[in-house]
Formats: sequence, structure tokens, C-alpha cells
Amino acid sequence: MPKTFFITTAIYYTNSSPHVGHAYEMVLADVIARYHRLKGEKVFFLTGVDQHGQKVQQSAAKAGIAPAEFVKDITQKFADLGKKLDVRYDEWAETISERHKKVVRGILQRLFDEGQIYKDKQSGYYSVRQEQFLTDKERGSDGQFGPEWGEIEFREEENYYFKLSQHKDWLSHYLNSRADAVIPDFRQTELRNAVEKISGDLCISRPKSRLDWGIELPFDKDFVTYVWFDALTNYISFAGYDPNATAVATGLRPVGLESLGTAHRAVATSEFDAQPQEFRDKWPALQIIGKDILVPAHGIYWLIMLHAIGFPEDQMPQLLVHGWWNLGGAKMSKSAGNIVDPVVLADKYGAEAVRYYLMSDINTGKDADFSEERLVERYNVDLANSLGNLLNRTLTMAQQYRQGRLSNVEVPLANIRFLEDVANLNVSAYTKALGSHEISKGLEQAAALAGQCNVAIDAERPWTLAKKDDRQVDLAAILYHLSESLRIIAILVSPVLPKAAHGMFDQLNWKMELSGKEQRFSLADAEWGRLPEGHVVGKPTPLFPRIEIGEGV
Ligand code: MSP
Repeated sequence: MPKTFFITTAIYYTNSSPHVGHAYEMVLADVIARYHRLKGEKVFFLTGVDQHGQKVQQSAAKAGIAPAEFVKDITQKFADLGKKLDVRYDEWAETISERHKKVVRGILQRLFDEGQIYKDKQSGYYSVRQEQFLTDKERGSDGQFGPEWGEIEFREEENYYFKLSQHKDWLSHYLNSRADAVIPDFRQTELRNAVEKISGDLCISRPKSRLDWGIELPFDKDFVTYVWFDALTNYISFAGYDPNATAVATGLRPVGLESLGTAHRAVATSEFDAQPQEFRDKWPALQIIGKDILVPAHGIYWLIMLHAIGFPEDQMPQLLVHGWWNLGGAKMSKSAGNIVDPVVLADKYGAEAVRYYLMSDINTGKDADFSEERLVERYNVDLANSLGNLLNRTLTMAQQYRQGRLSNVEVPLANIRFLEDVANLNVSAYTKALGSHEISKGLEQAAALAGQCNVAIDAERPWTLAKKDDRQVDLAAILYHLSESLRIIAILVSPVLPKAAHGMFDQLNWKMELSGKEQRFSLADAEWGRLPEGHVVGKPTPLFPRIEIGEGV
């Protein structure tokens, strides 16, 4: 059976409403998922929400309601955002679900039984805002803790710790042996440097007296697990991972094994094989995360957690790290008070305009500055003026001069014939770009083909050819080339603009039996010449009406 392409986003904190940064990550994953479906692959796309933790408990207290009630409302907002932006996921993760809690507890119990989790007392300065103990490393040059740590207090507390530092050499080795463990490259370098600095172990609990909105530790009812063991586990708990289906259960591995040498790793491969087929068909995933949660959360804690529970190196997920949408140079975030509401944007301009902007105006991995003016400008220039106009002109001329009937004649004009070569080049550059998750570069290829078509129309002026009896072959050739280019452009933009791509296919009267269904789009169809001789195209209806400045902005 062919392997399923598994893609995840981070899960979103349910302490406040979604903003454009969250919308971006969801759409980016959706576009990559749709691209893989376009290639004919089976896809499993997981996204969802991170519902436990201090911030949620605090926000709920502020709102005067129980955390469970509080997260319900915000969870719904994230689900609605997905719907609004046409994000087609296969599974929705909610960390308060029993299914998830069972897996988290199973993993914790196992690591505890193996001696990888232990209890210890810590005392020192604690940042309430960042929810962590501070060391001298966090002091500024003046010897003080900076304002980024917020209120600082002295604390003494017993907690449970995971033996993180024990796996440091393994992680270094893994990152040195796999060049594309993290994309882009410079993020892998950043992670490698961070791994060198791993010193202590990871605190994984909070006493219930301080935080009770969390998953209770299976071996101590006075504690809940804190943040990362809960949140990160979602990636496997919602994909069918079974914490009990280990080699321990199958008798391959003794409980209590503490040394993690080569022998352990050899056995661990079999442990992974003990997982249900449903899980092994999907895993490992391509995991999309923002740059703020690579180090230490995903790059260190997550990879080490997986290793500790027996995932071999060839089953490590790949991390695709994207940049931030900033507003006025600062990261968009609720606490900074500079958020843009994606639902408001979608209501104003339409989901596809928002999707197009978020995918075309940022390079994957880099930051970008959000601007509503740019959103309108890109839509008007690329979609309304160029692509929309091309579709409209082509179909209007096809109707007017040939009752919509196309003819794939030999092409005497070089100006027209070359559109076939341009399209082929665009398709291959597009495939390369999307294969490396560079969506904006892929969209540039579709835009370039539309641009060349418009140039060809202006150069050959079909309306003058239509008047001359001896130019009817040229006229037929240009109309065929334009329609064929439009069909290919529709396929290329379909992961980003699924509705518009359907609209284009409908107007081209192409694959009507699959109208509205995603299976209608296939990358294999982006081959030149698939519109058959005598195909009749439909009538034009404006797909991308111009946004008039002043209307929205
Ligand atoms: N809940 C944790 C992640 C747990 S994953 C097991 C979390 N949540 S978050 O809501 O704060 O962020 C979720 C994702 O949104 C992260 O990948 C983060 O980088 C991304 N974004 C949040 N703000 C962003 C921008 N302004 N721009 C782009 N993405 C950003 O962290």
C-alpha cells in the first residue's frame, strides 16, 4: 500500500482568538496537503488546538468561567477559521480529549517505569510570565533579569523531570547525519548550536496546587504534566499511536532499561514496528511550525521524546520552520496588541483573496510585514487584472468568433507556438518550487504564464485576425493555446485557490463530471495538449472582480 503523506501544524493555544499568523500556518499546511493530493498521494492532515496550561487557566479565571467552558469557545473560533479559509484537514486535535490523555499518560508511565522520569526539588528565581525557573544565564549585563521575564519571584518546588540531557549525544548525531531534518538549512544550523548547549533535564510537571488545568500524572495524582509532554504528543495520539503497543508488550524489551546504548536502538526499531498499521502507514510526518517553537520545543524536546520512546532515526519527523507575519516590524501577537483578525479580512475580501495574499507575499522560512494595502494590490494586479482578464478575454473571443469551439491546429505563428514551451517550463519550475514548499515561487510560475498569454494576445490581436478569412487558422491556434494555458494555470493555482480553480474549469467546461470535487485537479493533467480537438468552452463570468480602493482599505 502506498504510504500516506502526513502533515501537521502546531496546535494553537486556546487562551485567545486566532490571528493572521495562525491563519497563515493553517493555510500553508493546507496548500502543501492539497499539492500532495494533486500529485495523487493519499494525505493525512492534522491540525487542532492546545487546550491545557497556565495561560488558559489564567484567561478563564479573568473571564470568570471554568477553563473547560473557556476553551470550548476559543476552540470553536479556530475550527471556524479553518472552515472560513477552506482549510481541509483530516483530523482535528483537541488535547482535552480522552483519546489524547490516554496516550500522554501511557507515555509518561512508561518513561517513569524506565527511570527516565524522576522527582526532584528546585529552588530559585521564577519568571511568572514565562513560567520557568531562571538561571544566571538569563541575567543581563547589569546582573538583573530583563523586563521580558515580567514579574520574578523566589520559589521552591518539587517536580518531576525527564532525563533530557542523557539524549544529547544521540540528537547531535541524528542532526549531523540527516541534512534535511529541519528546513530551511539555517534553522537546522540554529538547532545544532542549541543542542550543544543542552545542560539540564526537563521539568515536566506542575503541582496541582498551582495549576490543575492539565493532564494528571499517572504515577502522582498531586501533579499535572506541564506543557510539552501534553502538547507535542498530539502529533502521534491523533494519528493512531498506541503507547502500550511496544516491544515491552511483545516481550522484546525489558522494563527498567536505563542505558540507551546501541543495543537499545537496535531493539527500538522492533518497538516501532509493534505500532498499529494505521499509525505506521502515516508516520513520519512533515511538521509545520513557526520559528519560535523550534528551539527548544520541537527541535529538542520532541525529537528526544520520540527517541526515548523508541522511534528509530528513520522515523523522525521533518520540521518545516516558517517565519512570522509582523505588523509594523513586530511579531503579531495578542500580548503585543497588534493582531489582525483573519475572519474580518475574509469577510471583507473573500477567503481566496486572503489565501492568495498569505501564500504569495512571503517566502517560506522568512518573515513578512502584513499590509492590507498589499493584499488588495496583489489581488488586483495578479488575479483581477492579469488572470481574470485573461480568462474573460479568451472565453469572450472564443464565443464571439468560434461559438466556443476549439481547434488544435498546427501553429504557424512562433509568438503563439512558444506558449506551449513556456507552459512546460512553468510547470516544471512550479513542481520544483512546491516540492521545496516554496509556495510564492510556485505562484509566480502561474502568474508568469498568465502574463505571457496576455502579451501574446496584445501582440497577435485576435480581433483583427477574426476579420480576415486567411487568418482563421492563426485565430484558432491562439484560442486553443490560450485555453490550454488557462487549464494548466487552474491546476497550478488549485492548491491555493481551490474555488477559483473550479470556476476556471467550469468556464472552460473541463472535467465537468467532477465539478466541485478536489479529485478534479491532478498534476499529471498539467501536460500540454489535453484539451481535445473540437472541445467547446463555456461562457465567461467574472471570477476575480476588482477590489476598488476605498471599498475596503
Ligand atoms: N501551543 C503551542 C504549540 C504547541 S505545538 C505541539 C503554541 N501555540 S501558538 O498558538 O502560540 O502558536 C501556534 C503556531 O502559530 C506556532 O507555530 C507559531 O509560530 C504560529 N504563529 C503565531 N504567531 C505567528 C505570527 N505572527 N506569524 C506566523 N506564525 C506565528 O505555540
